[in-house]
Parts: sequence; C-alpha cells; structure tokens
Amino acid sequence: MSLRNTPDRYGAVARLFHWTVVALFIALYVTIELREGLPKGPGRDALMALHRSLGVTTLLVVLVRLGWRALDPAPAPLPMPALQARAAHLAHLALYALMLLMPLSGYAATVARGRPVALFGVELPMLLPQSELFGAIAKGVHEFGATAIYVVVAAHVAGALYHHLVLKDATLTRMAPFPRASR
Ligand code: HEM
Repeated sequence: MSLRNTPDRYGAVARLFHWTVVALFIALYVTIELREGLPKGPGRDALMALHRSLGVTTLLVVLVRLGWRALDPAPAPLPMPALQARAAHLAHLALYALMLLMPLSGYAATVARGRPVALFGVELPMLLPQSELFGAIAKGVHEFGATAIYVVVAAHVAGALYHHLVLKDATLTRMAPFPRASR
C-alpha cells in the first residue's frame, strides 16, 4: 500500500491521520462523559486535565494532517450525483472546521478564565488576556461545537455506510484502517 494518496485511493498516511483523529475524538468524549458522573475532586480534575491534553494533541495532529493534505491532495470522489458529492464535500469541510474549532475554543475558554492549559503536565503559554465574557463566549462555542459534531459525524458515517452497504462502492474501503490488498 502506498504512503501517499493515489488518484483513486487514500494512502497509508491519510488513513493513519483519519483514524488517529477518530480515536482522539472518542477519547475526548469518553473523558467528558466519565467526568459527568464524578463529584468535584482530584479524580474529576485529573479527567479534565486528560481531556485538555487530548484536545491539544488533537489540534497538533490536525495541523500536521492539514499540512500533509496540502502536499498530498485527496483522491477524487467516486462517481456520484452532484448533490451527493457536494454534501460529502461540505461535511468534510465542516469536520475540518470543527476539528480546529473544538480545541481552540476549549483552550480559549480555559485561559480567558485565568486557568492554565497543560499538555500531559507541560504547562502551555497563556496567549489570551483574562476576560470572563470572552471565556463564557468561548465555552458556549465549545459546547455548541460538541453537539454539532454529533450531527455532522452521524451524517458522515451514515453517508459512508450508505455507499458501502447500498451502493456497494469503494468509498469506505478506500479509507479503511487496514485495507485488503489492492482491489
Ligand atoms: C466510524 C466513524 C467514521 C467513518 C466510518 C468514517 C469514514 C470515512 C470515509 C469512508 C471517508 C472517505 C470519504 C471519501 O472517500 O470521499 C472519510 C473521510 C473523512 N473523514 Fe471520516 N469517518 C468516521 C469518523 C470521522 C470523524 C469522527 C471525523 C472527524 C472528527 C472524520 C473526518 C473525516 C474527514 C475530514 C474526511 C475527509 C478526508 C480528506 O479527504 O481530507 N471522520 N471518512
């Protein structure tokens, strides 16, 4: 399997980025869901520290992913009706926007309210001035984004499954983490 994309298949690097980000998003949601059930205290603080570290990691991975994508353009979409191709393209754009918006708004919501963000114990610079108002807006954006992700990811996964199970084309297999030998 090629490291780079070919005109009709995703390469190993693009797939690795895709599934690494999926795993990071699952971990981010799991830390938040687990936190809901915990009383205030060290356990809850540790989960939030892990959530913030995973969020910063996601931002770094997504920035490298976007850099790689600029060097290695995505394969052309498989033949499909124009409206469907447009919807898939818009969903990808929305996912990239949310992948950036979520860590940035999380960072802003924390730092603007005077709390530092650390990446697995290494404290990051506080690049924003303190502002309760800005912090509250950033928190609102973060919460809205978390809900929007459910909707966009659900549509994205439904589209992938529709292609795989109904249209029986190669949309899903060409992004599969462990593809079979070339078809
Ligand atoms: C089990 C869950 C998921 C499945 C089955 C899935 C499946 C796929 C498939 C099949 C493609 C290739 C589409 C094509 O060939 O045009 C794709 C692309 C993409 N997926 Fe997912 N996906 C999942 C979750 C996610 C999540 C959680 C995100 C982001 C938060 C995401 C972001 C993207 C993006 C941005 C692309 C476009 C890649 C590019 O061309 O640059 N996916 N996904």
